[in-house]
Amino acid sequence: MILVHTPNPKEVAAYLELFRAAMPERQFVDLEHAELSAIRHLVTWGLPDGLLAEMPSLEALFALGAGVDKLLARPDLPADLPVYRLLDGGMAAQMTEYIRYGVLGYQRNMDLYRRQQATGQWRMLAPRLPSDIRVGVLGLGEIGAAVARSLAADGYQVSGWSRSPKDIRAIRCLHGESGLTQLLVDSQVLACVLPSTPDTRGLLNRQRLETLPQGAMLINAGRGDLLDQDALLALLDNGHLRCAQLDVFTEEPLPADHPLWRHPAVAITPHVAAITLRQPSVEQIVRRLRQLAAGQAVDGLVERAQGY
Ligand code: GLV
Repeated sequence: MILVHTPNPKEVAAYLELFRAAMPERQFVDLEHAELSAIRHLVTWGLPDGLLAEMPSLEALFALGAGVDKLLARPDLPADLPVYRLLDGGMAAQMTEYIRYGVLGYQRNMDLYRRQQATGQWRMLAPRLPSDIRVGVLGLGEIGAAVARSLAADGYQVSGWSRSPKDIRAIRCLHGESGLTQLLVDSQVLACVLPSTPDTRGLLNRQRLETLPQGAMLINAGRGDLLDQDALLALLDNGHLRCAQLDVFTEEPLPADHPLWRHPAVAITPHVAAITLRQPSVEQIVRRLRQLAAGQAVDGLVERAQGY
């Protein structure tokens, strides 16, 4: 028995229909119809606390998302339970659009024109070409690598940073602490798609943000806890940073009275940069269920210690 659960019953119904059509030989159920002790596989995002402890037959968990920070922090998650996360799942293309939108806006000075508009200023700013703009991408997994490649194809100068060394054509790939400093020093746009892990939490602190060149832009579409929001506000206010496009926050929803909402240099979206698309996610999980049944290797297995 395979349990499919998200907090939204309509979404669960849509997932069940897709799973049943793709794998009619297996039994997919929602929480209401689940016999918890018989659940061997779980497909989920936002499972109520404590439920995992009631599933002693659970063999694998498939997260309906790319970032598994919340899931790994659950006290009821058995230490030896294999957890799989979505790789791409339709998210790489969306994330690429979200970041290209930000980078293009920066290159074409859209943020500055919006500010001029607010005070009725008609003033031409110097044009810049994509090749004039250096972009740094933090995170070079499935999603980050797709973002970096696409920006390079647009003509931007792209560097990328990851935990372990990578080799991606047309991208200057950096890693480690010194690689991070190298990347920050010359990224006019810093685009972050990192997951939240013990190594990345608090990564974008004041000192690292100050390492960015004067007038830089920050795009954060990874996780909110990577960034010191107060430091960002201070550096926008003192003019070191020019603007920010933020999709993720330390606290979500971002509290209505938070100063980020009304900052003229900040563009905010409500954690929508890349949402899980049902069809590609179902295809990916069905493929993995088949591979598991056949005793084959399965991708997307989360390394607990690394956090992704
Ligand atoms: C969304 O933020 C995800 O991690 O899938």
